[in-house]
Amino acid sequence: MLSEGDLIYLLDDRDRRFWLQLHNDMMKVQGLGVVDGSKIVGRSDGSLVRLAGKDFHAFKATVVQLMESLERGPQIITPKDAATVVFRLGLKAGDVVLEAGVGSGALTMALLSSVMPTGKVISVEVRDEFAHRARRNIERAGLAPYWDLRIGDVKSLDLGTMVDAVALDMPDPWQALDNIDRILRPGGCFSAFVPNTNQVEGVVTGLREHGYLEVDAVENIQRRIEVHPGGVRPAYENLGHTGYLVFARKAARDHQL
Ligand SMILES: C[S@@+](CC[C@H](N)C(=O)[O-])C[C@H]1O[C@@H](n2cnc3c(N)ncnc32)[C@H](O)[C@@H]1O
Repeated sequence: MLSEGDLIYLLDDRDRRFWLQLHNDMMKVQGLGVVDGSKIVGRSDGSLVRLAGKDFHAFKATVVQLMESLERGPQIITPKDAATVVFRLGLKAGDVVLEAGVGSGALTMALLSSVMPTGKVISVEVRDEFAHRARRNIERAGLAPYWDLRIGDVKSLDLGTMVDAVALDMPDPWQALDNIDRILRPGGCFSAFVPNTNQVEGVVTGLREHGYLEVDAVENIQRRIEVHPGGVRPAYENLGHTGYLVFARKAARDHQL
């Protein structure tokens, strides 16, 4: 059911999305003009609605569409990589996750969707302006109640609590490992996203030196498939390189044999 306050999009017959925060009133929608929200409120998710003389399907946003439609700053993590991070960190409702840096908040959305409503994401961002843009994006997505944003340097910040998992997306994650070691609980899962192979070497070496186990570096390659009658093949334009993902597990340090 589509309700007042929902962030939804109207999908037209050319697969274009028009975003709006739903109200039971006349609303200005970028790219469409003024539309009557009372024709959408109360309808089923995915309903066909006629607005301004055109037909649209009205859908609630999923986390993937939220990530794709956010206000962009630095390079964001794409859904294919975010999905792998969430799954490899073993996230579930109730978990507490540390993220750094926050960038535009794309990965934050994926993390928040996995741990809400009983868990939380603590995001550390060193640059004020990025933090403010990310806050706008997270508030628009309705995920702010589960989010704790802190301005600071994750290499030295005293978090004041321990976390179940850590997700880093920053240029030199290995420099943060001394502090992460104080924050990540025993048995907790670690991930880092880095775009270059020299950074993979830096993180993996750092994790091994800090005694992490099951250190694993991977790259996700995803191809869109064009499907036409009698012709099915990968699309000519595909997302090229995004980055590498490094995962590890922290052992407990109470060596009783
Ligand atoms: C590539 S962006 C992160 C993008 C983000 N994962 C997303 O999906 O939108 C890298 C971010 O790390 C931040 N950063 C770099 N070093 C940091 C540090 N030591 N502590 C906290 N944030 C840091 C940068 O300011 C930048 O916002």
